[in-house]
Amino acid sequence: MENGSAEAAGGVTFETLLVDVVDGVAKITLNRPRKRNAMSPSLHRDMTRALALLRDDDAVRVLVITGAEDHFCAGMDLKEFFIALKDAPAEYERVWRMAVEWRARTLRNYPKPTIAMINGFCFGGAFSIVEGCDLAVAAQEATFGLSEINFKLFPGGSVSKSLANLLRPRDALWYGMTGRPFDGLTAEKIGLVNLAVPKAELEATTMELARELAAKDPHAMAATKEAYHMSLEMSWDAAMAYSFAKEQELVVRQGDAWKSEGIGDFLKGKFKPGLESHDAKIGQG
Ligand code: COA
Repeated sequence: MENGSAEAAGGVTFETLLVDVVDGVAKITLNRPRKRNAMSPSLHRDMTRALALLRDDDAVRVLVITGAEDHFCAGMDLKEFFIALKDAPAEYERVWRMAVEWRARTLRNYPKPTIAMINGFCFGGAFSIVEGCDLAVAAQEATFGLSEINFKLFPGGSVSKSLANLLRPRDALWYGMTGRPFDGLTAEKIGLVNLAVPKAELEATTMELARELAAKDPHAMAATKEAYHMSLEMSWDAAMAYSFAKEQELVVRQGDAWKSEGIGDFLKGKFKPGLESHDAKIGQG
């Protein structure tokens, strides 16, 4: 997909999302602001489709996920999901699976870097979007909350797993058990996001980060993510075998670029990898 407003990925428009691609960065905006961008079954369907299309789009190197107007996402749509599907157990389970799949496995295994840009309300199920993304930048003024306990539920779906993956036990249980809201600065302090900045700087800061990632080698980027996630789940021996095999795979995928260009240009004195990125300094090779 070329630069510019793409109501669509590959010409497809979405009922609940906006998709824009600029300079290799695809921004997906959850677009139900009147419902505080809560995730309805249609939004889960749209996200599943959009992520598949953008994955295969060579012009897209980085994803940013955010919400329309002043909200990130108010979690699951409590009415359209829990209430409307109350008496339709098969459909409920189908949507439940789709909802957990894109926020957890699809984002975790996404071959391109993903950034959550949290611009406002972020409740319940939205924590799994934040955790599913590789990196997260929040507005200091954003409001986060594990509100489930406040309406007599627990952090269901993929949310408890997201909390276990990302937070220290004290923080996960504190916010899960009290349901107290907290701001972006607290989200940064507890490691739920990488960075919290004043809201006025959120878009510029996030897009600068996205462009920085877009300028790195995409195969090395995909391997960085995959090696991290795989290593978490493997024994030491399996992780070493995987790592050795991955090195060889990278040589094949890149046409040897990490050796010939990356190390090669360092040895020719053209750049210093400790201080700068090859492609940003020298070009794509
Ligand atoms: N599911 C469905 N609808 C939601 C929603 C959700 N998670 N969050 C907000 N909405 C809807 C409201 O029902 C309301 O719809 P209406 O205008 O048709 O009545 C609209 O969005 C605006 O909500 P409102 O409460 O008036 O806005 P607010 O800005 O004062 O408060 C929240 C926003 C997000 C703090 C509040 O709506 C809220 O607490 N929502 C529930 C959040 C939650 O518990 N999410 C976890 C789900 S897993």
